[in-house]
Order: sequence, then C-alpha cells, then structure tokens
Amino acid sequence: MAEHIHPIFDRLIQRSDREQLLQQHSKVIWLTGLSGSGKSTIAQHLERRLFNDGYFAQVLDGDNIRSGINSNLGFSVEDRQENIRRIAEIAKLYVQSGIISINSFISPTTQIRQLASDIIGKEDYVEIFINAPLEVCEERDVKGLYQKARKGIIKGFTGIDSPYEAPENPFLEIRTDQISIEKAVEQIYTSIVPLISYQKS
Ligand code: ADX
Repeated sequence: MAEHIHPIFDRLIQRSDREQLLQQHSKVIWLTGLSGSGKSTIAQHLERRLFNDGYFAQVLDGDNIRSGINSNLGFSVEDRQENIRRIAEIAKLYVQSGIISINSFISPTTQIRQLASDIIGKEDYVEIFINAPLEVCEERDVKGLYQKARKGIIKGFTGIDSPYEAPENPFLEIRTDQISIEKAVEQIYTSIVPLISYQKS
C-alpha cells in the first residue's frame, strides 16, 4: 500500500542509523580525577587520536561547559551535582546522536558519578580514573589554584577542603604520575576501541 512505499521515511532516525552513518558506536568516556591530574590534556589528545582514526568525538570540559551553559554554577555540593547532572544530560544527547563524548570533570563523589551513570545509562558510561596523588597535582599547580586554596583564598577546593572519593571500580585507571600523556592516551585508546569499533557489533 501507499504507506509502505517509503517505509524508511515513516520512522524517526534511530541512534543505530546515526551510528551506521558515522561507522562507530557512541559512548561517554567519563574522565574523573583531581584538578591537575591531567584529565583535560588527556581528553584533548584522545579526541585528536580518535579523530585521526576516523572517529567522531567531542570533548566536554570546564572550558566549554562551565564557561557557558553552567556559568551560573559554583563549587558547592549542590552546584557540583547540578553541574554534573546537566553535563550528563548533554552527553546523553550526544550519545543518542552517535557521537563519542569525552567528558573531563572532577566529578568528585561516588554519588555524583552514579548520577551521571544513571542519566547516561550504565551501558554507555565508561568511567576512567585519571589518578595522580594530591601532592603531585599540588606540585604541578598548573592554574595556581592549590596555592590559593591552601591560603584560604579559595574555599571548598577539591582535595584540600572538599572531598574527592576515588572510584572503586572504574573501567580503567591511569596513573599520570607514572606514565606519560602519550602512553596514557594510547592505553585509553586501546581499551575503548573494542567498545566503539563498528565492526565489533
Ligand atoms: S566538578 O567538581 O563540578 O566536577 P569541574 O570539573 O566542573 O568540577 O571543574 C573543576 C575546575 O574548576 C578545576 O579544574 C579548577 O580549575 C576549577 N575550580 C575552581 N574552584 C574550584 C573548587 N573549589 N574545587 C575544584 N575545582 C575548582
């Protein structure tokens, strides 16, 4: 009948259609760790590595999220939770669009990361712990924020006077005080390729 002539036009485009077009499976690669642990640097290198190999990925981090959609949020427990809730909702939209989302946020507590996983769906949430001891992050102090936190100029700084709970069962843990950024990126890349590779399904 007439309604069966163009069945493909009769239904909404599915995530699987988009994944087929992009020749990849979409996931949220969720990098958690202290400020200065190397999350965003790794995220950017990983994005480039994926791009060079034909994957369509997008980094979400403080630069594009906290400066824009979440610019009204601070660092209280409630604001961090709202920060992560919105980020998880955005990443979920990305995943539905077939895009690999690389999320780089401290996401300091088990409860906050559980919220992200619940929103995104645990099948699509890939948690990677970017781990460097506090002393190392503080020594690096890339943005000079640890010094300010120690002086009490910044209050409620993660690792100083606000908690960071290490993930108990991450998909992967990377010790950035022990391996180079290049090795870290390679290790993550190798681990996630089976999840995003289209042939694998
Ligand atoms: S989260 O806790 O809500 O996940 P998010 O990753 O978005 O944090 O932002 C962390 C970045 O904000 C840090 O890398 C640092 O540059 C900056 N920052 C400013 N104030 C704080 C604070 N009190 N605690 C942690 N990071 C802070």
